[in-house]
Amino acid sequence: MQSRGLFITFEGMDGSGKTTQMRRLAERLRGHGQTVLETAEPGGTAIGRKIRQILLDAANQELSPAAELLLYFASRAQNVDEWVLPALGRGEIVIADRFTDSSLVYQGCGRGLGADTVMALDHVACRGLKPDLTLLVDIDVETSLARAHARNTAAPQGETRMDEQSVEFHRKVYEAYQRLAAREPERIKRVDGRASIDAIERAVWDIVSAYV
Ligand code: ADP
Ligand code: TYD
Repeated sequence: MQSRGLFITFEGMDGSGKTTQMRRLAERLRGHGQTVLETAEPGGTAIGRKIRQILLDAANQELSPAAELLLYFASRAQNVDEWVLPALGRGEIVIADRFTDSSLVYQGCGRGLGADTVMALDHVACRGLKPDLTLLVDIDVETSLARAHARNTAAPQGETRMDEQSVEFHRKVYEAYQRLAAREPERIKRVDGRASIDAIERAVWDIVSAYV
């Protein structure tokens, strides 16, 4: 449904390096004269950041899978309307740190809610908007948990509610990302997240430069 602009998303396990690479890609694109909107989910808007607090607060253990799914999509719906569609309509490049693919793998598979339920909400929140290109920063579960843990112990809030999920949950998420990438090879491009930050940046640029 979007016209003109380019919509790129970063996906991958927690701690895979999405945020690091998104920032570097945005800087590079700006260096090439492009107007770039960087956004992240959950979050991205003032309302989304409030929803993010509910989702990631480790005290909210009773949050049900359905409520969790709806909150991720509430944050996304606000972001799509407030930032993403207007920027794409102006012909800009939008780069998002996570989007509906995250809900497919974490809630659809990790929580077992199923792809049909997730895509029904995507239909409401995103109204046909789909990324033109998705970069899957690929790391194994152990590296993901180690990096997320190292980051969380250094952060004031400590472990988040999602990071506290079982290893089995994170394994389901990992497997779901692999299946998704295999199913949509045209849109979803894998980069090896265990390489150095500079090497991943180059791999990302090799892919994205064909689109701009
Ligand atoms: P994400 O947004 O996927 O959670 P971040 O970009 O926040 O990932 O990175 C998570 C942690 O891993 C940070 O401490 C970051 O400095 C580190 N990191 C990012 N990329 C790499 C890499 N290629 N190799 C080693 N450490 C990395
Ligand atoms: P994020 O801030 O991207 O975490 P990280 O930097 O560790 O990758 O996302 C927060 C958490 O929310 C992360 O564990 C993934 C989860 N998540 C979902 O479960 N569903 C979703 O739709 C999204 C966008 C994120």
